[in-house]
Amino acid sequence: MKTIGVFDSGVGGLSVLQALLAELPGARFVYAADSAHAPYGERTAQDVSERTHRIAEVLRAQHGIDALVVACNTATAHAIDPLRLQFPDMPIVGVEPALKPAAALSRTGHIGVLATRGTLGSARFARLRDQLMRASPRPLQFHCQPCDGLAAAIERHDQPAIQSLCELYVKEVTHMAGSPNAVDTIVLGCTHYPFALHTLSQLCGPDVSLVDTGVAVARRTRDVLGVQAPEASSFAEPLLLTTGDPVALTQAAHRWLGLKGEAQRLATELRPAVN
Ligand code: DGL
Repeated sequence: MKTIGVFDSGVGGLSVLQALLAELPGARFVYAADSAHAPYGERTAQDVSERTHRIAEVLRAQHGIDALVVACNTATAHAIDPLRLQFPDMPIVGVEPALKPAAALSRTGHIGVLATRGTLGSARFARLRDQLMRASPRPLQFHCQPCDGLAAAIERHDQPAIQSLCELYVKEVTHMAGSPNAVDTIVLGCTHYPFALHTLSQLCGPDVSLVDTGVAVARRTRDVLGVQAPEASSFAEPLLLTTGDPVALTQAAHRWLGLKGEAQRLATELRPAVN
C-alpha cells in the first residue's frame, strides 16, 4: 500500500484530499497542514519555499511517504521545481489554477481567476496564462483577482468574513470584465476556495461555472503512481497532522470530509533536521 503525503498551508488541501480518497481508496494518506504559518498567499516566495521543503523533509523522514501531493497552488508556484530536484526519486504532483479547462468551458472567453496574491504574482502562473493565450484560436481574457484574507477566513471558518470577501472579489472580477454578464467561468485557483463554493455559487448564479482542480489532481496522482483504476478496498483513515491547532484541523476534516480521526501536532521546528 502506497503512502501519499498531501500538504497545504492549512485546511484548503482537504479539498484535494477528498478527491484523492475517492480516486485512490487503497492508499494510505498523511495530510500535513502548515496552519501555524498560514496563509502562504501573502508570504514571500522564499518563505513559502522554505516551509514547503521543511514539510516535505519531515513527511519523508518521519512518515515514509512514497509520493507527495503539494495541494497548494501557492506552494506549487514557488517551490515545486526545487522540490523535485531535492527529491528526484519521489513522485511529486502539484496544483495549478485550472485555466485550460476553464478556457475550454467558457463561451464568452472572459474567465475570472480567484487565487492568492502569491500565485497570481508568480512567474509560473504568468507562463501558464501567456502560453494559453498564445495557443488559443480565439481571444481569451483572464481577469485575475488576488483574494487577500479569504484563505485565512476559511481557515477560521468565519462565515461573515467569507461572505463579504467573496462578494467583494466577485464584484471586482465582474468590474474588470467591463460588463455584468461577460464572465461565465471562474477558476478557484486556491485549494481553500472550494470550501466557499456554496457562497460563491449563490453570488455568481447558475450561469457561471466555477472550476476547481481537486479531481484532476487526484487523477494525475493515480496516473503518476501507475494505479490503473480506483479499486474498492478497505479504507484507511488519513493521518492528519498540523503545525497549528489540532482541534481546528480535526473539526475541518470532520465537517467537510466526514473523517473521524483526531489530528496530531506536526513539529517541524523541534525535531532534528533530516536530509
Ligand atoms: N491553499 C493554498 C493555495 O492553494 C494557499 C492559501 C494560503 O495559505 O494563502 O494557494
